[in-house]
Amino acid sequence: MTEATKNDTTAQDALKTLVGRAALDYVVPGEIIGVGTGSTVNCFIDALGALRGQVVGAVSSSLASTARLQALGIPVLDANAVSRLAVYIDGADEIDGRGYMVKGGGAALTREKIVAALADRFVCIADASKRVAVLGGFPLPVEVIPMAATQITRRFAALGGVATLRLRDGAPLVTDNGQQILDVRGLSITDPLAFESEVNQWPGVVTVGVFAHQKADVCLLGTAQGVRTLTF
Ligand code: A5P
Repeated sequence: MTEATKNDTTAQDALKTLVGRAALDYVVPGEIIGVGTGSTVNCFIDALGALRGQVVGAVSSSLASTARLQALGIPVLDANAVSRLAVYIDGADEIDGRGYMVKGGGAALTREKIVAALADRFVCIADASKRVAVLGGFPLPVEVIPMAATQITRRFAALGGVATLRLRDGAPLVTDNGQQILDVRGLSITDPLAFESEVNQWPGVVTVGVFAHQKADVCLLGTAQGVRTLTF
């Protein structure tokens, strides 16, 4: 890693810490909260330790976030035990000017969408690099049933996208749900609502990483000038 790259990473980490802390303002005392996944959410969970007594519990979107919450002594509830959440707090790989997002860089997109669907409000926490004009620059994660991976790859090719199977240690990555992830490059997603609806109904797609039907209501964007609050 060059000195310049190291500096960029440190600056980005500082912005993640900043927005992770800022998200505490959206935690409603006495309520169960929805918690996402990823390095930005890890900053939020770490900050949440200060509110431990006020948080009744959390519904988590991944085994990794569950472990981190439990290490802080925050009870983690099954999503089936909860009928609604006041707020869901999560990061994003990309967010546009309408609050539409690409998510799933951490392979947790399916559970993230499930927990987000329980929440009255989606608060996205992100550093400024995540703000884009059009979704699709970040390779789009799609969780798939393994036997459908090749036909889904062909369908993306017809849309101009190149899908590759995500690997970990040389073998296909297996999600918390026992499925695989395709990462799709080369897309320009100009109509996220229609795109999400279309891809969702392809056989074998578990979840597409476009969060348009489950968009952000608020984005706390970490910038060099501080936290910008965007509402959609
Ligand atoms: C996890 O599957 C993702 O949806 C994350 O929310 C997203 O990848 C952002 O992660 P970082 O906060 O690590 O950038």
